[in-house]
Amino acid sequence: MPKALVLGGRNGLLGQALMEALKSAGTWEVAAPDPGRINYFSSSLHAELSALTDGLEPDCIFNAAAYTDVEGAEEHEDEAAAMNRALPACLARVVDSRPVRLIHFSTDFVFDGRKNTPYTTDDQPNPLSVYGRTKLAGEQAIQERAPAGYAIIRTAWMFGRGKKNFIQSILNICRAQGEARVVFDQIGSPTYAADLAQHAVTLAELEGSGIFHIVNSGQASWCDLAAEAVNCSQVECRVTPITSAERPSKAERPAYSVLDCSRFTNMTGRTPRAWPQALREYLMLENSGL
Ligand SMILES: NC(=O)c1ccc[n+]([C@@H]2O[C@H](COP(=O)([O-])OP(=O)(O)OC[C@H]3O[C@@H](n4cnc5c(N)ncnc54)[C@H](OP(=O)(O)O)[C@@H]3O)[C@@H](O)[C@H]2O)c1
Repeated sequence: MPKALVLGGRNGLLGQALMEALKSAGTWEVAAPDPGRINYFSSSLHAELSALTDGLEPDCIFNAAAYTDVEGAEEHEDEAAAMNRALPACLARVVDSRPVRLIHFSTDFVFDGRKNTPYTTDDQPNPLSVYGRTKLAGEQAIQERAPAGYAIIRTAWMFGRGKKNFIQSILNICRAQGEARVVFDQIGSPTYAADLAQHAVTLAELEGSGIFHIVNSGQASWCDLAAEAVNCSQVECRVTPITSAERPSKAERPAYSVLDCSRFTNMTGRTPRAWPQALREYLMLENSGL
C-alpha cells in the first residue's frame, strides 16, 4: 500500500479530512506528525523534514499545514511567511531528492478579485493581503524547484468537521443573538473539506501534477452561505446583509474569487458537487453527533 504523510493532519480543518479520506479509501497507509513534533520555525526545518521523510518513507506528502489567520497575518508576517513560504520551499527540496510526490494546498486569496468570471489556473495571481502574498510565494517556491510530481491545489471558503469554521460561528451567533450581520459583497466558492480531501486523494492516485483549483460547484456571497446554513438548521435567525465597508478588516480581501475547476475535471473526470448539497451533508453529520 502507498504511504501518505499528512502535515496538519492532527488538528487542521483540511488535514483531519485528508486523514479520514485516506483511511476510508482503504488503499493508503497514513501518518501525521504529532503536534510539536516538527518545529516549523526552526533553522533546521529542512533537516527535521528530511529525517521524518526518511524514517516514514512516504510515497506522498500532503501539506495541509499553513498559517491561515488572514487578519493575523497582517501583523505577524514573519510567522505567516515561515509557514506559507519557507515550509513549502523546504518540502520541495525534500521531495526533489527522493521518490516522493508533494500535494500542497493554496488559496483563492492569491487573486485580486477584479475578474467577474471564475478564475482559471491560467489567470495571473495578484494577492491583496499578506496571507495571499505568502501563499503565492509558497506556490512559486515549489514551482521554481519543480520537484517531479508536485501538485498545488488552490481551494477556498472551507467548512468542515473537527475545527471551528464560518458555518459554526454564524450558527452560534444566531442562537445567541437571533441576528447575524453578514457581508454580501464578497463572492466566492464555498467548499466542504471532506469533498476537497476526497478529490485531493483522487488527484494523488492519478498522479496529477501542476496547479489545480478544487472547490465545490456554484458560487455564493458570505451572506448567501450564512442564510443557507440557517435555513438548513431551522434556527430562528435574521441574516442581515452588510457591505465589506461595514465590517472593517485589516486584510484586503478579493471581492470575487470563484475558482474554475475545469483543469481538475479534465484530468480526473470528476466534477465537485454543488456547495448547498455539500453543506446539507455537513450539517446533517454535525447534528447527528456521529
Ligand atoms: N480554511 C479555508 O477557508 C481555506 C481557504 C483557502 C485555502 N486554504 C488552504 O488550505 C490549507 C489548509 O487550511 P486549513 O483551514 O485546514 O488550516 P488550519 O485548520 O488552520 O490548520 C493548519 C494546520 O497547520 C499547522 N500549524 C499552523 N500553524 C502552526 C504552528 N505555528 N506550529 C505548528 N503547526 C502549525 C497545524 O497542524 P497540526 O494539525 O499538525 O497541529 C494546523 O492544524 C492551507 O494551505 C490553507 O492556506 C484554506
